Amino acid sequence: MTEKDYKEKIDAALERCFTGAAELPQAGLAEAMRYSLLAGGKRIRPMLVLEFCRVSGGDVEAALPVACAIEMLHTYSLIHDDLPCMDNDELRRGRPTNHVVYGECTAVLAGDALQAEAFGTILRSPLPAERRARCAEALADAVGLDGMCGGQYLDMLWEGKPLSEEELTEINSRKTGALLTAACRMGVAAAGGGEDLDEAAARYGAALGLAFQIRDDMLDVLSTDAELGKPVGSDAKEQKNTYMALLGREKCQAMVVRLTEYAKQVLRENFADTAFLCALADSLAVRTN
Ligand code: IPE
Ligand code: IPE
Ligand code: MG
Ligand code: MG
Ligand code: MG
Repeated sequence: MTEKDYKEKIDAALERCFTGAAELPQAGLAEAMRYSLLAGGKRIRPMLVLEFCRVSGGDVEAALPVACAIEMLHTYSLIHDDLPCMDNDELRRGRPTNHVVYGECTAVLAGDALQAEAFGTILRSPLPAERRARCAEALADAVGLDGMCGGQYLDMLWEGKPLSEEELTEINSRKTGALLTAACRMGVAAAGGGEDLDEAAARYGAALGLAFQIRDDMLDVLSTDAELGKPVGSDAKEQKNTYMALLGREKCQAMVVRLTEYAKQVLRENFADTAFLCALADSLAVRTN
């Protein structure tokens, strides 16, 4: 499958989510959830789930709910990340942010509900129970205290404080790397892959995740609102610690290249059919949005 095929498959499956609430009194909450979920992200995480499932010998169709689940979780993290109490941003995926349209209370609840629905979607999937449990555990670990929430906490706690490269990596491997790593591991888990594949997927995901956040920090300085679909200059405004501020553009680009090469090497050593995942790593290293 091509990137475009995967994206169409994922978008179509997400389009079918939360459509049954129109007659319910909480229909407005479903509308807010769908507003951000269907706003048109790149769908990198669900794509990683499906392709890691495929290269681990699994059934891509059966993994589709797991792919939708990680996009729900990611969308929740974006809705909350944009809130006035966090990054205070008003543009996301080329549209006004959730709280700008629906108000802060609804935005908080839309994020909360998307998180719960993500786990429900995994647990209700047609996969064998043991694979569902593995996927849910990988996701929980990637989001909780040691994962995305832990990283977002450090991102705020250390705003304005001069950081070492190690401390910055501590933030980024949690706030961004953990979920990308989980996406790869969940694909292996959905296929029932063994420990070797799980470990290789985790190493690829961690390298890709770090490169992804370095590129995100670069784009916050180098891109435009229109191209990025979110406000540039957000990091400086909030006194964020970023790789761009710490290391500058050239060192950032060199790190992205080095991490991408490492990620591809891990793949080649552990999986038979790596063309798609190598190409994805290459395209993310030079992405413009
Ligand atoms: C943005 O993630 C948040 C970060 C972790 C840097 P993406 O760049 O994957 O955002 P979408 O899903 O394409 O909107
Ligand atoms: C946030 O990083 C990562 C998340 C956990 C959402 P950023 O704050 O840099 O993400 P953007 O730039 O707003 O997408
Ligand atoms: Mg943030
Ligand atoms: Mg942000
Ligand atoms: Mg950013």
